[in-house]
Amino acid sequence: MGQGVLLRYKQYLPVTSQTPLISMGEGDTPLVRSRHLEAELGCAELYFKLEGCNPTGSFKDRGMVVAVAKAMEEGHSTILCASTGNTSASAAAYGAYTGIHTVVLVPKGNVAEGKLVQAIAYGARIITVQGNFDHTLSLAREMAQRFPLSLVNSVNPHRLEGQKTAAFEIADSLGEAPDYLFIPVGNAGNITAYWMGFQEYYTEGKTKRLPRMMGFQAEGAAPIVAGHLVESPVTVASAIQIGNPASWKSAERARDESGGVIDSVSDEEILDAYRMLAQREGIFCEAASAASIAGLRKQVKHGGLDLSGKVSVCIITGSGLKDPALAHEHMGSPLQESEANIDSLSRLLGLPASRSGSARV
Ligand code: F0G
Repeated sequence: MGQGVLLRYKQYLPVTSQTPLISMGEGDTPLVRSRHLEAELGCAELYFKLEGCNPTGSFKDRGMVVAVAKAMEEGHSTILCASTGNTSASAAAYGAYTGIHTVVLVPKGNVAEGKLVQAIAYGARIITVQGNFDHTLSLAREMAQRFPLSLVNSVNPHRLEGQKTAAFEIADSLGEAPDYLFIPVGNAGNITAYWMGFQEYYTEGKTKRLPRMMGFQAEGAAPIVAGHLVESPVTVASAIQIGNPASWKSAERARDESGGVIDSVSDEEILDAYRMLAQREGIFCEAASAASIAGLRKQVKHGGLDLSGKVSVCIITGSGLKDPALAHEHMGSPLQESEANIDSLSRLLGLPASRSGSARV
């Protein structure tokens, strides 16, 4: 526990005698049983995998630790990525940890403040690109071809190798693979990685079943659902505002081989799930992460999916703290101000004024 994914799952990863077994304590994230949504949707068992509990607050750390270890092994001194924010935060942290220079390219104006602040704090070289994520990723790919830079986006196979360890953890915790896995889809690396992980455990005989992979894109950024590129993707969930996913084909394979679906959810459904998860389950996640919850609700309430007798897991990919502006705009009620006395405070809370000044809240 707390030893990191390279050490814990060494035999499943591309680890050689030359690979440095670095760790910032990534992985081993909580699998929390739902107390509200499970009953609301009539699920037999529903769990949330809290990937926001990784060192930089998102699932990216699982893959980044492997990609950076392999970059060190190969003698690279600089890593490069394009990102909607979380990959860049993770690359910058592991770059700082290992003393590797980090260059991050982010689409101008479309990255949550907390993620940008992380990359700044870790000392990465940050370049905002006048284009969307898809333009930024193709630039990063070309840069890595022309110059001696190690690309640590999920097109780097080591990233997916590391990310598949979350599937192992779920199966290890439950003692079996779940029946259904609900997951947001952006660049489509993560759904691909989970499917790899579940298949490996199944092939090894560690599990007796494979989950149905249920992926969800945001309606304004749903190329896989539409079956064509989206030139100008738009969604409130900036992490998955992607119109040309790098792992498109392998996400379709995960869907088809598992008998699952890839569907879309509206921004309104995402924001409803974002609020519900915080206020009814105590989990403050990113809007992109809430897409998996929105998708689960949509499939059960409008798609006829029956989860009674089934074990389901939703992947909560990142922490809500990364985007305070979104929370201010869409969560709960505005702040109220009180004078520094009991009368003013009790009036605001609708409590009777107390003579002794010791009113209980
Ligand atoms: N959830 C969060 C919080 C993300 O940051 C991302 C992707 C996804 C879901 C989707 O995962 O791309 O593997 O399908 N973020 C990338 C980034 C694109 O640059 O941080 P995916």
